[in-house]
Amino acid sequence: MGLKNISATVALWVTFMCFLGISSGEQILDKRFGKLFPFFSIVRITNQPCVPESGSQMGTCFTNTQCEKAAGTVNGKCASGFGVCCVVSATCESTITQNNTVFRNRDAPNSFTPTGLELCNVRISKPNSKICQVKLDFISMNLAPADAMGQCMSDRLSINGATPNVPANLCGMLTGQSMYLDFGSSDRLSMSMITDGAANPSARDWNVKVTYYECNAQLRAPDGCLQYFTAATGQVRMLGYPMAPHLADLDYTVCVRPEDGAGSIVWSHCQGEPAGDVFSMTKAKRMDDTMGMPEDMCNMDYVMIMTDEVMSTAVPMPKMNDRYCGNALKAMPPFTVRSTAKPFIMRVKTDSTEPAEDVMNTGFCLAWRQEPPRPK
Ligand SMILES: *[C@@H]1O[C@H](CO)[C@@H](O)[C@H](O)[C@H]1NC(C)=O
Repeated sequence: MGLKNISATVALWVTFMCFLGISSGEQILDKRFGKLFPFFSIVRITNQPCVPESGSQMGTCFTNTQCEKAAGTVNGKCASGFGVCCVVSATCESTITQNNTVFRNRDAPNSFTPTGLELCNVRISKPNSKICQVKLDFISMNLAPADAMGQCMSDRLSINGATPNVPANLCGMLTGQSMYLDFGSSDRLSMSMITDGAANPSARDWNVKVTYYECNAQLRAPDGCLQYFTAATGQVRMLGYPMAPHLADLDYTVCVRPEDGAGSIVWSHCQGEPAGDVFSMTKAKRMDDTMGMPEDMCNMDYVMIMTDEVMSTAVPMPKMNDRYCGNALKAMPPFTVRSTAKPFIMRVKTDSTEPAEDVMNTGFCLAWRQEPPRPK
């Protein structure tokens, strides 16, 4: 084919594409043609995340048609103006299949007060067979609190069909929390919100971001980790913290990815939190007892960390028991628990009730710091 023929074909094709709009994932003009026709820019719309013109929610770069199909809202441009930044929100009784979709309460962005008992379901479907996991980011989640036994009797968030199992007793304030859920053998998960305006006539709201991960994605959480963090330092709050009493019936695992060259993880209570709240799992909230406890004394509400060393004074103590309950980790200053067991994990467990000696316990906020191996 001569140069003339090529240019004729390309010119025709370009005209054709202008009529059709630009289909996604396609490179409209390859580099060779780009060089031949420098007045056409090279455009590729690969459905990458994009930052919309307004708002804090991430969008996906789409064609206009694709955004319409996904029931999204166009919010700015992307791909050098050839694509639109498409923001997808889902509300009650819908199915999510799109990366970075947010699931919001009815009447969002306003909060709502349920009239009587309301149920709001959303399905999260696997968009294709390469997807194994979703991350839920609770940008906001404000439900009615648990009762005096830590049971969610008025409102409840339940998530079904996922591995690991999500605790079934979730309510109160979950803003800032996140969860990683595997599809396992199923191809969809469901999330249900039950809100009871008769039992509690206050306002509720939620905004949950859904991120899909491919099976071989680097950011995918390991099996069994409901919560997963990837940083050298950070904080983890118990689900529901600082609600008093804390949630009952919790049983989940928090994992921290070991950084390159990390030898151990050191846990201590978060700074800047109310002292009575920062670790109160059983007994009266303000009682001090600083040790890891033997199993038979710490079998109701506790945190488990495989412990190599506990430091409560200047002198490190050798390996202790691995369970922490009471107000164990709140002592000042400094009280730390070092663990070299990898992967870095923490198990959180609470029983079904709050007996009389458990006074207004709030759960925990713990901070971690990864450290290089110590010289032998
Ligand atoms: C979804 O978007 C996130 C960025 O928000 C990205 O890291 C992830 O890889 C995307 N997932 C898929 C399956 O494209």
